[in-house]
Amino acid sequence: MPGAALCCYNHNGGAMRFTALAAKGLEEVVAGELRGLGLLPGPVGPGAVGFQGSLVQAYRAVVHLRTARRLLLDFGDFPAADGRAYYEGVRALPWEEFLTKRHTFAVEASVRDSFTGHSGYAALRAKDAVADRCRQALGARPDVDREGPAVRVCVRLAEGRCSVGLDLAGRPLHKRGYRVRPSPAALNETLAAGLLLLLEYDGERPFCDPFCGSGTLAVEAALIASRTAPGLVGGRAFALERWPGFDRRAWERVLDEAREARRAPPCPVWASDKDPGAVRAAAANAAAAGAGAAVSTACRDALRTAPPGDGGLLASNLPYGDHAGVGENLGALYAGFGDALKRRWAGWKAGLLCGEPSLAKRIGLRPARRVPLWNGPAEVRLLVFDLYEGSRRR
Ligand SMILES: C[S@@+](CC[C@H](N)C(=O)[O-])C[C@H]1O[C@@H](n2cnc3c(N)ncnc32)[C@H](O)[C@@H]1O
Repeated sequence: MPGAALCCYNHNGGAMRFTALAAKGLEEVVAGELRGLGLLPGPVGPGAVGFQGSLVQAYRAVVHLRTARRLLLDFGDFPAADGRAYYEGVRALPWEEFLTKRHTFAVEASVRDSFTGHSGYAALRAKDAVADRCRQALGARPDVDREGPAVRVCVRLAEGRCSVGLDLAGRPLHKRGYRVRPSPAALNETLAAGLLLLLEYDGERPFCDPFCGSGTLAVEAALIASRTAPGLVGGRAFALERWPGFDRRAWERVLDEAREARRAPPCPVWASDKDPGAVRAAAANAAAAGAGAAVSTACRDALRTAPPGDGGLLASNLPYGDHAGVGENLGALYAGFGDALKRRWAGWKAGLLCGEPSLAKRIGLRPARRVPLWNGPAEVRLLVFDLYEGSRRR
């Protein structure tokens, strides 16, 4: 097939290509995490960071990465100008090396500037192509299981090309397994971890989220402070454990190394909210993450209370738009919190995730840094403030 690049699945220690998918704006953070794991990232594209490594290095990455959305083994990449080239390209991949009749699979697709604008259609055609190839090569097709497949195939169609990847975790990495008390306004876990790494949080100073909601930022801070790899949380199973050539000894070694790296957090992590239900959810989620002892929760109004310590990192996802209570005056809340920061939080660094620029202005302090990020489809800004006596007013 012209222009096709097939990747061999080499489970004998040879190098393979992988792609870590990232939320827009977090690509460099993911690349930094890969470097920290001794890997050489590149290329870095919109929402994706490639790297080469052995299967064991990929095991380590899927256990440790805090900010990637998914980790994929690159299985194929080919031109797909139309539906026919797309179907043939997927069918030309060596699926029988990966799937047996007993394996289950599922296909997810994303499409951008492509021959089709329908991700559902793209997923269906790829599923047909995989099934047709297996029926021909194996005499039967593997079953589809959308919930817990052994092999989750991620197809990305963009600008006339198709990339096919196999998801090592089998589900998005933000699903850490600790969210026992969900909340509609909850921040995505990988975005929360990304925010903390952008703020250079390493657990060596106190942390506080005075608008904690269900506690995502505080839980992620506690995981960083205790050097807990997210893959250890929640007793999750990973799809790679059902792949052919799964190296159980190497996998157990990677998990043991991660367990040995854990420590007691050296500094406090505080989480508070004015809503008692949110505080209960934050405490339950922290406990489910194994961070119940590390996160101190309290019911407090952020506008009226003093900081819990002399200095450290404050990070919050401020209420915005439909997250606000009915009738709440958000402008006054932002202005009031800006005042509180100026009057009471000298000695702290603050990172505030704000959705609405006009609201962010109401804080009334000049940010040292503004980082554009994406919270799902919504563009948001991380505003960073260094607070000291007499912080600059806007
Ligand atoms: C966008 S949500 C935070 C979501 C959180 N990051 C999470 O992952 O669940 C904003 C939170 O601010 C809280 N809040 C609003 N006004 C507050 C105030 N004056 N003091 C403390 N918390 C407040 C709300 O109760 C809500 O839980």
